[in-house]
Amino acid sequence: MRVLLAGGAGYIGTHTAVALLESGHDVVLLDDLSGTHAIAAERVEKITGKPAPLVVGDAADDAVVAAVFDQYGPIDAIIHLAAFKAVGESTQKPLEYYSNNLDTTFALLRVGIARGIRSFVFSSTGTVYSDPADLPFTEESTTSIDLSNAYSKSKRMNEVVLADVARVNPDLNVTVLRYYNPVGAHPSGLIGEDPAGIPNNLMPFVSRVAIGSLDEIGVFGADYDTPDGTGLRDYIHVVDLAEGHVVALEQAQPGHQVFNLGTGRPVSVLELISSFEKAVGHDLPKKILDRRPGDVAATYCDPAKAAEVLGWRTRLEIDDACRDYWNWQTRNPAGYATPADAGVRPA
Ligand code: WQD
Repeated sequence: MRVLLAGGAGYIGTHTAVALLESGHDVVLLDDLSGTHAIAAERVEKITGKPAPLVVGDAADDAVVAAVFDQYGPIDAIIHLAAFKAVGESTQKPLEYYSNNLDTTFALLRVGIARGIRSFVFSSTGTVYSDPADLPFTEESTTSIDLSNAYSKSKRMNEVVLADVARVNPDLNVTVLRYYNPVGAHPSGLIGEDPAGIPNNLMPFVSRVAIGSLDEIGVFGADYDTPDGTGLRDYIHVVDLAEGHVVALEQAQPGHQVFNLGTGRPVSVLELISSFEKAVGHDLPKKILDRRPGDVAATYCDPAKAAEVLGWRTRLEIDDACRDYWNWQTRNPAGYATPADAGVRPA
């Protein structure tokens, strides 16, 4: 199949592009480079030895999406990964999050359906589940639009749109993938996560402390009702996540399907830090801080449906993710920016 990856030069996008190419598919990457660098697409080609053409443009612009189909069509499927995704930032910039995360979906659906795509795969999130009493979350667990931040709400709104669009397009395969906390990097160390500025998420922050560009890890709360008092999350290796996208696409059926992509094995903040220290080979400076507003004690899934329906389950563990993340970080101390301009990354 030929697959348009919206947001394809990003963290999930590059890993999914590698997995698609290595499974014999063709890819076209569309990215506005707001959260990555064009070199990431070149790294995908270096890993696979196959073309990963990059179109730089806004996936919310119908004319941009149509031009991709004009130049690279016929295109069989769209995987939509183009979204703003910082939970905290979304509470401060709701309009930017709703417009970007919804307008991209509208444009990709309008043009994709008009051009006859067979499949639309959407990157959603396990943060749409609203009742902690349902843990571990299954695909039938309670969801809500009444969530703590605009990022999660925008994802839930997208899901509502996709369910209705699937209903009136019975030949279209719509697959919604709800994932958890992507971590790790491709074992080559050529592609990885490269957040601009101070990372919000735990693993990139720990890695920046380990590489020396940040001073100390702050642990947001050690008084949760969890085994060691720190937050529990379902950390899924990005290589497993990428392979989940390929399997979901290859097995997509007409209609609307939802899958959790996670490990089902919750890991605490202190456990992740300890695993990263093993990868680095020494302890890292850390201190316990107050809880972060908006955080929940625990989020993790029951991955049984993806295993039963898709025959997919994660293979890699948190130690693999920390090892691979550290390998990426040491080979790319300033991410995709060349060391020469490392000091000029936008804040
Ligand atoms: C993880 C744990 C923090 C930073 C993420 C993404 C979001 C969505 C869901 C996909 C929590 C703790 C963190 C730090 C810390 N992804 N922490 N010190 O909040 O689960 O959300 O997954 O849909 O886009 O943001 O991830 O990595 O920010 O936090 O103690 O410096 O680490 O309290 O327990 P989160 P996170």
